[in-house]
Amino acid sequence: MPSRLPDVPDIDERLTDQLLAQLGRVEQDLREAVSSSDHIVRWTARHLLDAGGKRVRPLLVLLAASLGDSSRRAVIDAAVLVELTHLASLYHDDVMDSAETRRGTRSAHSIWGNNVAILTGDFLFARASSLSARIGPDAVRLHAETFERLCIGQLHETVGLAEGQDPFDHYLSVLSDKTASLLALAGQLGGDLSGAPEGTGDIMRRYGEKIGVAFQLADDVLDLRSDAEVSGKTPGIDLREGVPTMPTLLVRQRGRANPDDARTGELIRRLDGDLSTDEELADVVRLLREDPALAETQDLADRTADEAIAILEELPEGPVREALIGFTRSLVHRRR
Ligand code: IPE
Ligand code: IPE
Ligand code: MG
Ligand code: MG
Repeated sequence: MPSRLPDVPDIDERLTDQLLAQLGRVEQDLREAVSSSDHIVRWTARHLLDAGGKRVRPLLVLLAASLGDSSRRAVIDAAVLVELTHLASLYHDDVMDSAETRRGTRSAHSIWGNNVAILTGDFLFARASSLSARIGPDAVRLHAETFERLCIGQLHETVGLAEGQDPFDHYLSVLSDKTASLLALAGQLGGDLSGAPEGTGDIMRRYGEKIGVAFQLADDVLDLRSDAEVSGKTPGIDLREGVPTMPTLLVRQRGRANPDDARTGELIRRLDGDLSTDEELADVVRLLREDPALAETQDLADRTADEAIAILEELPEGPVREALIGFTRSLVHRRR
């Protein structure tokens, strides 16, 4: 069992103990949920679970549920459900992004190949579906709607802008669908299933949606700023894959507005150039690290986190609200 909460700074001691105990149960149930007697899947399905991860989504379920009775079986199931869904999406995402590392270890496709990684992701989605059925019909529906948004977000990122679409609008809608949808589900299920006061699930869904956007903006900053040993991922992987991120969109916008700015022009040329060698990628990452676009993105993540905190004001005052505020700030200032 973890001895401290991964992403929440000093919070009320009783609440910390309660959350740690519940996260321990979630961990046990996750192990069970990915287990199988199949001679292949028994290894592939536990690979990324064993590798670690921050468990941000289960923690959000538990924090939201602490506004009611978080000891209910359905609450723990919901925490397992959101992490399983996230886990499955990571197997698929690493194939799509050609990412060699994840959670500090080799990605599934780099060990077993794309087909095994995709099918393992599908297996995990199947396990998640069967868990949602145990929670009840509302959870099945909400989970299916979330899964749909997740697919749409990844799809829109893959195919790029719709005709006439603004690149920032496209980026923000991708980010809401691929990332915020699952955090919104985590918040909503925590509120709904714990018997918290009427309206809590709705507040926590709106909060989750906001913090999801802030979380992914911070991920864009991390992709450039963080070293591989800390983040467990290869820096600059989005650049190599040509995935638009907020820092690169800001650089391009600056380039359009200032065609005579030679430095920005040169950076854009290199972004559009061949980033297949590790040296060139590291060089462009270094240039972006020094570019004001990175600080601007962090600023936007902070402002979005402030908006999420404003939603929390609708909750009653107390240790849970304080913990959620600390959680929000730590998500946009994380190092991995
Ligand atoms: C990674 O999520 C994928 C994104 C949506 C940014 P996390 O940063 O929560 O990854 P783990 O679970 O800690 O590995
Ligand atoms: C991950 O998005 C989103 C999902 C897994 C649905 P990214 O591709 O931006 O996240 P990382 O950087 O690989 O974790
Ligand atoms: Mg990725
Ligand atoms: Mg991706």
